[in-house]
Amino acid sequence: MANLIPIYYLGKKHMVPEGVTIMGAIESSGHRLVRGCGCRGGFCGACATVFRVPGDHRIMVGLACQTRVEAGMDVAILPYYPAQKTIYDCNAVENPAGALQLMYPEMYRCLGCSACTKICPQDLPVMDIIAAAQRGNLPAVAELSFDCVMCGLCASRCLAQMVPYNIAMAARRIYSHFMLPRPDYVGDRIREIKEGVYDRQIDDLLEKGPEELQKLYAERDIECI
Ligand code: FES
Repeated sequence: MANLIPIYYLGKKHMVPEGVTIMGAIESSGHRLVRGCGCRGGFCGACATVFRVPGDHRIMVGLACQTRVEAGMDVAILPYYPAQKTIYDCNAVENPAGALQLMYPEMYRCLGCSACTKICPQDLPVMDIIAAAQRGNLPAVAELSFDCVMCGLCASRCLAQMVPYNIAMAARRIYSHFMLPRPDYVGDRIREIKEGVYDRQIDDLLEKGPEELQKLYAERDIECI
């Protein structure tokens, strides 16, 4: 029998197994997560969570699928955060380096407080990403923000009311649209997939466990640009 510890989910006490993730604890207490739950692997950003632990004044954050419970933890998942998003068409962008300035002028209100960097559950340098965006340095924004899962926590803390992850997403799109080489073999691969050329390899992959898949992913060939 697992040891049970108390946590508070939306203010209500539940006894949950020690050592499980926040997401596992919430589900073990009888809740069915229909929002705030996606990949369960730390990639989709759907499970941004805020919590406090006894004896610590700070509001803490994490991904519910990755963060383990502690006794007395007081938890709320943020399945959605209202976010300002500019609608744009990459094909209509005339000056890639200046595009973000027009799309997200609020980024110049950054106070340099670093609250966004401190709250990021991916440990990304969000404030540096915004600084690069202000300079129109799209390659730097794309590189620094590559692991962003768009959980929304940076926007929830930004004193300048901006949405760093949407700014970074726009930068990555414009960067890849204008500055990265366009591989002409992608169309061939899509056609081959549709024709079933890779059916056996895909079936093989579906048989493998997470560790083997992670190893294959880490060792895959990466195109150099
Ligand atoms: S469920 Fe996808 S990051 Fe947690």
